[in-house]
Amino acid sequence: MLKGKKVVVGITGSIAAYKVPFLVRLLVKEGVEVRVIMTPVAKDFVTPLTLATLSQHAVIVDPFKADNGEWNNHVELGQWADAMIFAPVTANTLGKMAHGIADNFVVTAYLSAKCPVFITPAMDLDMYAHPSTQNNMAILRSFGNIIIEPQIGELASGLTGPGRMEEPESIVQILKDHFTRQHDLDKKKILITAGPTHEKIDPVRFIGNYSTGKMGFSLAHEAAQRGAHVTLVAGPTNLTSEHPNIHRIDIESAEEMYQICMQEAPLADMVIMAAAVADYTYSRQSPIKLKKGSAPLLLELSPTRDILKTIGANKKNDQIIVGFALETDHESENAKRKLISKNLDFIVLNSLNETGAGFGLETNKISIIDRSGTVYQGKLGTKPAVAAEILDFIVKNRTIQP
Ligand code: CTP
Repeated sequence: MLKGKKVVVGITGSIAAYKVPFLVRLLVKEGVEVRVIMTPVAKDFVTPLTLATLSQHAVIVDPFKADNGEWNNHVELGQWADAMIFAPVTANTLGKMAHGIADNFVVTAYLSAKCPVFITPAMDLDMYAHPSTQNNMAILRSFGNIIIEPQIGELASGLTGPGRMEEPESIVQILKDHFTRQHDLDKKKILITAGPTHEKIDPVRFIGNYSTGKMGFSLAHEAAQRGAHVTLVAGPTNLTSEHPNIHRIDIESAEEMYQICMQEAPLADMVIMAAAVADYTYSRQSPIKLKKGSAPLLLELSPTRDILKTIGANKKNDQIIVGFALETDHESENAKRKLISKNLDFIVLNSLNETGAGFGLETNKISIIDRSGTVYQGKLGTKPAVAAEILDFIVKNRTIQP
């Protein structure tokens, strides 16, 4: 599957550079044509000679001059590559990539890339956690780059935490998966909802829930990576939507989400309703702040409209409708009932009883139920990994018309 692919491997100055010869070797074994480029500091961690020997090609370090005195052409490399993998990427290079500071050949080649770009950060845990690093990663994601998140483990500093560069075998697998999936949702229109809704009581108070929107945003990002045109209807959240294929519409209440979804759903090939929509709203919103009193305050709530049920009732033949069910008890039973009553193709079950699953966590563990009642058990993973798992399952189990 990787045979014949052309891949640029860009190395920067981190101790994790010692892993890159293994990466290059694995890629070459898969039949990949590899060109290695390095920053000057990376040479202190791993030698160009090792990498040239393994890749069977000269390694480029100097931005301007090859050994034979010729100019190193980053633009040509950008046109040539089917993928670029930057590994390891230091906090310094992340910043340069995010802000276009092209003072070495690695960043210059990155800026010339016309292909998918994989960025594999490696650094100490505090540097990784710093808002500056996190912001730079968010910027890079917003350009459509794929960040291969570092692993949690022992770091060169002796500390333990996130920052360890992903292992070469996993990077190769991610690349394989990418080329398999790359076009499996090409030009499909997908409507995804995410996050909570806020039902206003007065100008300063609302009824909400603990949803952060991470699962829905991960689904939107993953679908966009696979070529889909995503409309993301997002409830109040601090998350950023990170792909040029994502058209984001922010809403606040269940009714606003309903209105947008009614416009968008008929245009969609697939609808994924991951939002935690309020079931009740307060219809007598006060235009001014309610004042404290000594008597109990009773709020009469009225039911919101069930967005997914309406979409399911109007489902077109070739449309795929996916719901979510968050359950605390009788999980499968409740989810199956929702699947049928809302006329869905699949329902993704989130159980609050699963360790590692739930609101605000970085990880999730789901199961997916289809119309025959078959239950697919997912694995515990990061929300982006679970998003990929959900889309893999849907694509595999339901042929989407080209
Ligand atoms: N949903 C919706 N509109 C609503 C409520 C829920 O579209 N007003 C969607 C959710 O986005 C989710 C699915 O319906 O995809 C199931 O939501 P959930 O809250 O688990 O189920 P409810 O139908 O609200 O039932 P209950 O609250 O009794 O569990």
